[in-house]
Amino acid sequence: MSTPHNPLGDRQISRKSLLKAAALAGAVPVLIGGGTALARDTAAAGGNTAPLTPDCHDGDAPTGAQIEGPYFKPGSPLRTNLVTPGTQGTPLTVSGYVFGRNCVPIAGALLDFWQADVNGNYDNSGYTFRGHQFSDANGAYTLGTIIPGLYPGRTRHIHVKVQAPGQSILTTQLYFPNEPRNATDTIFDPALVMTVRQVGNGSQASFDFVLNVNGTPRPSTSPSSSPSGNSPSPSASSSPGGTTTWQVGTSYKVGDQVTYNGVTYVCIQAHTAFAGWEPPNVPALWSRR
Ligand SMILES: [Fe+2]
Repeated sequence: MSTPHNPLGDRQISRKSLLKAAALAGAVPVLIGGGTALARDTAAAGGNTAPLTPDCHDGDAPTGAQIEGPYFKPGSPLRTNLVTPGTQGTPLTVSGYVFGRNCVPIAGALLDFWQADVNGNYDNSGYTFRGHQFSDANGAYTLGTIIPGLYPGRTRHIHVKVQAPGQSILTTQLYFPNEPRNATDTIFDPALVMTVRQVGNGSQASFDFVLNVNGTPRPSTSPSSSPSGNSPSPSASSSPGGTTTWQVGTSYKVGDQVTYNGVTYVCIQAHTAFAGWEPPNVPALWSRR
């Protein structure tokens, strides 16, 4: 689902101001302010002790990291909708933006979501309720899913890894407001509570990620286009056939071929390689040849 405004054009308006404007307007779907709310707004509004979200400006606080937990599984499919026919649960749409510290939206950020099903179970043999996507040219993302079920020892949450192109990975979790277990979950962080509204028979949530990067817009506005400004590492070995050894820090474009552990892969999504995203782990980025 696309988002209706370009945050680049709204940089003079704080995200908090937009949220307040939307709230004052009444029953405005959350997507109208798509991504304008940070979790901290909701946490504060819900009575938690989290500080108010500062205006969006240079020096905005990065989103906090959280533990990965035991159920992350690399190689999730590329998709924005985790709901499949027959899926049980309350529909939930999570949307927002990925920003740098300076409030500049980050296009092409990799977001990898995973969560429990309605019964609180993770799919560890397949990829149910697992999926990754890239923020669009405006830094926006949208995830279609359900409200995850509860499981022992935790409050309700969604796991996510967010990575700006070529930058380190933020691993964190998103939470829901007004959950009784928020008060007893030792991992819970009120700064990571989403803004959630009920719309029809489902819920719409928003959360903006602020990554600890400069947030310099990339000339390439889509991860499917060839990145510029980064040349393949000169130290990457090259074979006569043009195949290089996969290497962290190298920018790959669609069609590039690499070898990793003796296996040849073809790049199917332009990206900058990062430890943890080795070709066998990210089938959405690399296809075995
Ligand atoms: Fe979990």
